[in-house]
Amino acid sequence: MRLWALDAPGSREYCPGTMKLFIDSAEIKEIEAAARTGLIDGVTTNPSLVAKAGVPFETLLQRICELIDGPISAEVTELQADGMVTQGRKLAKLNKNIVIKLPLTWDGLKACRTFTDEGIKTNVTLCFTAVQAMMAAKAGATYISPFVGRLDDIGQDGMGLIGDIRQCYDQYGYKTQILVASIRHVDHVRQSLALGGDVGTLPYKVFQQLLSHPLTDSGLTKFMEDWKTAKLG
Ligand code: G3P
Repeated sequence: MRLWALDAPGSREYCPGTMKLFIDSAEIKEIEAAARTGLIDGVTTNPSLVAKAGVPFETLLQRICELIDGPISAEVTELQADGMVTQGRKLAKLNKNIVIKLPLTWDGLKACRTFTDEGIKTNVTLCFTAVQAMMAAKAGATYISPFVGRLDDIGQDGMGLIGDIRQCYDQYGYKTQILVASIRHVDHVRQSLALGGDVGTLPYKVFQQLLSHPLTDSGLTKFMEDWKTAKLG
C-alpha cells in the first residue's frame, strides 16, 4: 500500500518505506567502492558504459554479480525482438540477479512481454514520456527507466516526467517500478524521493556527493575542536 501525506491543499508527498539506490556504472573500481559502503541495492549498465569500461560483457557482469547481491541490469544489443529474446535469455542464465534491459521500442516491448511470461525481470530503458512508461507497464516491465538528465539537457522537465509516471502508475495500479535514470546531481535524488521514485540509479560521482554539506563538515570540525580543548576524555 502506498502512503501519502498531505502537506498542503492540492499537494501530496510520497512517504515510501524505501527508495532503493543503484549505481549506474560498469567500472569495477567504482562498483567495488560503492559496494563497500553497504548502501547499494543494485547496478545498472548500458552499452556505452560497458564500451567505456572495455571489459568483455559477460565477464564484467559476473564480476558485478560477485560484488552486489541485488538487481544488475544488462542491456541487450540486438534490435529485433527474436534476437533480444535469445540474447537476453543467455544473459539471464549468468546469474539470478540479472535484469534484462530493453529499449523502449515495439520490439523491446514484445521481448519484454516474453521475458515477463518466463519470469525473467526486465528494465525498459530510454523512456521520455508517461505514455511510453504506460506501454512498458502494460508489457509487464519490472522497471521503467525515465532519463531525467537527458530531458533537462533539451530544456524539458525531467523530474516532471517522474511525477507524471508516478501519478499514472498509482492511478491505474501498474506495478512497474520507476527507476529514475540519467541522474546528474544530488538534487535529482532529493526530487526523486519527494516524487515517489522507487529506485534512483546514480553515477558514482553523484553517489559520493550524497552526504556532502558544508555545515556537516564545519559542524564536525567545531565538535572536535571543542572536545580537544576541554580535555575531558
Ligand atoms: O544508464 C542509463 C542512464 O542513467 C544514462 O545516463 O548520464 O548517459 O544520460 P546519462
